Amino acid sequence: MQNLHGRDLLTLGDLTPQEVETVLERAIAQKHLRKTTGKPPVATGKSAALIFMKPSLRTRVSFELACVDLGLHPVVLGPADAFSREETVHDTIKVLERYVDVIVLRTFAQAHIEEVAEHASVPVVNALTDDYHPCQGLADLLTIREHKGRTAGLKLAYVGDGNNMANTYLLAGALTGMHVTIAGPAGFEPSADVVATARGLAERYGTGAQLEVTNDPKLAVSGSDVVITDTWASMGQEAEHAARVKEFAGYSIDAPLMSLANSDAIFMHCLPAHRGEEVTNEVIDAGYSVVFDEAENRLHAQRAWLSLVL
Ligand code: CP
Ligand code: NVA
Repeated sequence: MQNLHGRDLLTLGDLTPQEVETVLERAIAQKHLRKTTGKPPVATGKSAALIFMKPSLRTRVSFELACVDLGLHPVVLGPADAFSREETVHDTIKVLERYVDVIVLRTFAQAHIEEVAEHASVPVVNALTDDYHPCQGLADLLTIREHKGRTAGLKLAYVGDGNNMANTYLLAGALTGMHVTIAGPAGFEPSADVVATARGLAERYGTGAQLEVTNDPKLAVSGSDVVITDTWASMGQEAEHAARVKEFAGYSIDAPLMSLANSDAIFMHCLPAHRGEEVTNEVIDAGYSVVFDEAENRLHAQRAWLSLVL
């Protein structure tokens, strides 16, 4: 088992394939225990700062409850509390680390959480930035593992914006040997840097993952095992919403597109979903949709991560 004590999680690229495996195994074991005997708290007397500079339902609730399960006291902070009143990142973190044993942060720029991690002597967890969402990535790997029995060699199609989730799936595929194709309109592809980083990781670890970017959703979905989408306008892009709905026409996951996937394919979405935009009701409500398993697995993946780093 890999020792993750004290480690930051800023992107999935921070982890090795063996470390991802350690987190997933811990999550599966704790999920089972929680549903049967219950697990003794492992972090009693410790505390966590959960800082949300953007809105959250799933991440906030699942982190707060993961802390409670572990005996870790959560303190939830918003934009009026942290990084406010012109207090520097340095000073904010030097104060917080006198109180808490781990800092979980949802923010805008990846550079912001990197600066936090530079100053923090306690582990820092990325609860979503504009560029990455590693906690969702771990929960989704767990969900795929549960439904498909494996990740290596599967074909994952992500149709939509080349955003924090697209970036996260590229890294998740690279580390687990899952082939990932991202399909979105021209101008909304993931950044070339992230694609290169993910391909570099696949090469370094020899996982065999093929990572592709296309503008053709049918090509991406054809023959795939996992079909995923996400909102077309992420948090911080609300003003672009109407324009993006026009740009992304033809990139909705609907039943005809889904029919091109393998007959036992699953549909995933990190949520919140915009029904009628990136996905139709028929697809998200279908038997092959596992979106609420994904949401539940946020709790299990994050509890595992917190217990490993503490
Ligand atoms: N998927 C996800 O991170 O949901 P929230 O934004 O509600 O936390
Ligand atoms: N891409 C979305 C994910 C929400 C969980 C956003 O950043 O708003």
